[in-house]
Amino acid sequence: MHQLKVNGELKTVDVDENMPLLWALRDELGITGPKFGCGKSLCGACTVYLNGNPVKSCVLPVGNIQGDIETIENPNRSEVFQVVQKKWIEHQVAQCGYCQPGQILSAASLLSNNQNPSDEQIDTAMQGNICRCGTYPRIKKALKDAASSLQSSKIKKDDVGE
Ligand code: FES
Ligand code: FES
Repeated sequence: MHQLKVNGELKTVDVDENMPLLWALRDELGITGPKFGCGKSLCGACTVYLNGNPVKSCVLPVGNIQGDIETIENPNRSEVFQVVQKKWIEHQVAQCGYCQPGQILSAASLLSNNQNPSDEQIDTAMQGNICRCGTYPRIKKALKDAASSLQSSKIKKDDVGE
């Protein structure tokens, strides 16, 4: 038995300690936002947050996990996440959608740490997320638009002393 804290809730899974987290999430807990792509930490389809940082859940054994897991389904989303998601919709980023939970989590992680990323920093942060539909130009546009929106909302908050 293993206890996992997923999206703020404690869950118990009766699985082998070597089972990758992705299998536990999808097959045991019915959390299907994270997707199986390569199973080798190469594509980013299975991205989730562990203690706030993006990780590849396909290569993370359940027995090694300590801390909080967040998936795209997390109902308590940060402001940054919400802005990213809104911009993804506005720019109609998704094509088949398979890679997009991972793309959004990686983009939100970047913008949580850096709200004015350079092209190079965007490329570096997003390089672990592959899109077979080739939505990269829209991903970059949406990410930059989200960055602008976050910066202007920060300026407004600073102006009113929040
Ligand atoms: S399925 Fe995990 S990185 Fe591809
Ligand atoms: S939208 Fe189809 S794989 Fe990225």
